[in-house]
Amino acid sequence: MNADFQGWVKSRQLQIESYLQNHLPAENHAPERLHEAMRYAVLGGGKRIRPLLSFAAGELNGAEESRVIVVAAAVELIHVYSLVHDDLPCMDDDTLRRGKPTCHVKYDEPTALLVGDSLQSLAFQLMAEFSLTDNPKKQLEMIQKLAQAAGSRGMAGGQAIDLESVGKMLTLPELEFMHIHKTGALIRAAVMLGAYCGNKLSEEQLNHLDHFAKCIGLAFQVVDDVLDAEATTAALGKTAGKDAEQNKPTYVSILGVRQARELAKELQHDAYQTLEHLGKSTDRLLQVTDFIVQREF
Ligand code: IPE
Ligand code: IPE
Ligand code: MG
Ligand code: MG
Ligand code: MG
Repeated sequence: MNADFQGWVKSRQLQIESYLQNHLPAENHAPERLHEAMRYAVLGGGKRIRPLLSFAAGELNGAEESRVIVVAAAVELIHVYSLVHDDLPCMDDDTLRRGKPTCHVKYDEPTALLVGDSLQSLAFQLMAEFSLTDNPKKQLEMIQKLAQAAGSRGMAGGQAIDLESVGKMLTLPELEFMHIHKTGALIRAAVMLGAYCGNKLSEEQLNHLDHFAKCIGLAFQVVDDVLDAEATTAALGKTAGKDAEQNKPTYVSILGVRQARELAKELQHDAYQTLEHLGKSTDRLLQVTDFIVQREF
């Protein structure tokens, strides 16, 4: 990571942290325990990759920061909700997340369930409450995009396939379908919603940006699979080696680590090429792409 990019990441991470701090319900407001648990799950951790993508896509397109931050926060809230539920005993049964005990371990399972529910509602509340564009019809479309990305045709659907696939040998297209949904859909939404906050892009530019987002969304989960197999629990802040232990089909179980890494590089290359067609300054999106593929946590 070069110093300029590092500085940009740091400042955006602080910005999103402070926005989330201010928009999550206060711990001393009833029901206190639920509000405390929501803050516990969201604040003080995570790479904030999805917000970084919204910011990078917004910058590409002259979007006002005060608008992009809303979609960045909404996407991050949906993401954290997905993590809290993903860690529950009925799903991946994990005890460590972002270097801390998972939400249901720190609190309890019913609270973790409600934390997820409430974070999802808060995300949509923000999207509906603040002005994201000058065109109300476009804002409705943005809300619909996020709903689709989070629901049964997006993240939740991908999670359903993940659970159904335990112990099965998936084909590569089946695995890609699962990953594109469980992880790709929200990453795609992060990019597109960031861009929608800005000036109008042509249909062609939007298609290129969407293809870019699909490539990095898939690459993100391929790398997550590789890190689960290769990195340490300390580096990840979540328990390593869980996929093999739980018999999950992943890019590592199907292709092996070396080929999975190759695939991530191919997707990175495809993402680069797609950005070239945009005719805009895409340095930030390129840098976030490199971070996604080269990260060690
Ligand atoms: C982990 O996401 C879950 C997946 C979708 C693979 P991240 O790796 O972005 O988790 P945080 O937000 O940095 O903790
Ligand atoms: C989770 O995938 C995807 C979502 C939370 C939607 P994983 O189960 O691989 O994520 P980690 O590895 O627990 O972060
Ligand atoms: Mg999972
Ligand atoms: Mg998991
Ligand atoms: Mg994983």
